[in-house]
Amino acid sequence: MRIDIMTLFPDTVNAVLHESIIGRAAAKGILEINCVQIRDFTDNKQNQVDDYPYGGGYGCVMYAQPLKACLDNIMSTAQGKRSRVIYMSPQGKPYNQETAKRLKNDYDHLVLVCGHYEGIDERFIEACVDEEISLGDFVLTGGEIAAMAVADSVCRLVPGVLADEECYTGESHWDGLLEYPQYTRPEVWEGRRVPEVLTQGDHAKIVRWRRKQQLKRTKEKRPDMFKKFKPQNDTDKKLLKEVEKDAKRMTLTKELSWRKAVNEDVQRIMEIVADAKASLAKYNVDQWQGPYPTAERFEEDIRLDQCYVVCHGEEVAGVLVLSLLEEPCYDGITDGKWTEGMEYTVIHRSAIGKDYRGTEMAAYMMRAAEEITRNAGRRCIRVDTHRKNKPMLNLLKDSGYRYRGNILVEECGHDPHRQAFEKILKDKK
Ligand SMILES: C[S@@+](CC[C@H](N)C(=O)[O-])C[C@H]1O[C@@H](n2cnc3c(N)ncnc32)[C@H](O)[C@@H]1O
Repeated sequence: MRIDIMTLFPDTVNAVLHESIIGRAAAKGILEINCVQIRDFTDNKQNQVDDYPYGGGYGCVMYAQPLKACLDNIMSTAQGKRSRVIYMSPQGKPYNQETAKRLKNDYDHLVLVCGHYEGIDERFIEACVDEEISLGDFVLTGGEIAAMAVADSVCRLVPGVLADEECYTGESHWDGLLEYPQYTRPEVWEGRRVPEVLTQGDHAKIVRWRRKQQLKRTKEKRPDMFKKFKPQNDTDKKLLKEVEKDAKRMTLTKELSWRKAVNEDVQRIMEIVADAKASLAKYNVDQWQGPYPTAERFEEDIRLDQCYVVCHGEEVAGVLVLSLLEEPCYDGITDGKWTEGMEYTVIHRSAIGKDYRGTEMAAYMMRAAEEITRNAGRRCIRVDTHRKNKPMLNLLKDSGYRYRGNILVEECGHDPHRQAFEKILKDKK
């Protein structure tokens, strides 16, 4: 790809376009970028490039003569090329990624004409320009910034400029969506954690998560683009449904925290338990369908120093009982086994308030369990749940828990069969 930029400020444009990725590609010969001084082509002694507008008015208009002479000079070295002469103008068609793709695919030589002052003589546009491109609905002092934007965005699509096609096909605007959010090290920065799915190494899950994020953020940030987007396959259709459902859920805007529960929390804890009971009934799970767990049970957990709450700002959003005591019924595990030789903590009686369902809160609670376990000097967490408790099963899967076998829970008054899960915590990076 060859790009000639006709300008009164070639040094400025050169300095920018011969830096970084585009500059390196030009140095390698993949691109040819020339910034040509229009003033060198004037036919007057003073090298004047502009004059007052006919009819009066402010400012000056650039002469057609040096523009044409400059263009002729460029074209004399571009025979046989698929050339396109583009005037950078606030009156042009607004520029976008589709235009970048078209220019890269249809031409191998672009001439970008930068006006200045009041603009350029209309007759040059009529005689020589193939199309006008605008950077947006605003007025710049000169066409240089717009020309640099067009040159940069076209050049990065030229094979060999970026490491791989995927570098730009996954980016915002390529297929009518914005890109997913990106993160790099450290895993926790100022209390904000990288989404867990990105650190677990499950590639298929990462691909799905990223696609959903693309849909979600395009819907939120660019509803105009989202309206035009057509799902590309069944996964897109499924993810779109999930995004619609998620949009109805509460957004967590306040700080998330966890702390030990106190007796004053018990009333709110019992509201959360009531929400959980209703949800379990919906899933046809007979767990928690009697009086258990009672307020007295939580008061006892608080006394034993094993009851925690997770909060959204000041509001208690969930409860978590995490015990350091061994669970006798876990010894009778069948159809599998626990990891041997590890001291563990056990998650009991955990639930999230109904307003927080489907938000980050449940995952946050699981991370709190990990922090408490680490603080206790342990690296293993065990938990059991009913085989029909789908929300909990999903949460355990998403939080990196592994199915270990089956156990029987004594004295629960209902179906005693439970599936047992375990998570071994990795060393902190
Ligand atoms: C001050 S502007 C001239 C604006 C012109 N008088 C008008 O109202 O349409 C000077 C030059 O900046 C460039 N320019 C200004 N806004 C631009 C935009 N939104 N996109 C591309 N180029 C722009 C054009 O090359 C233009 O000739």
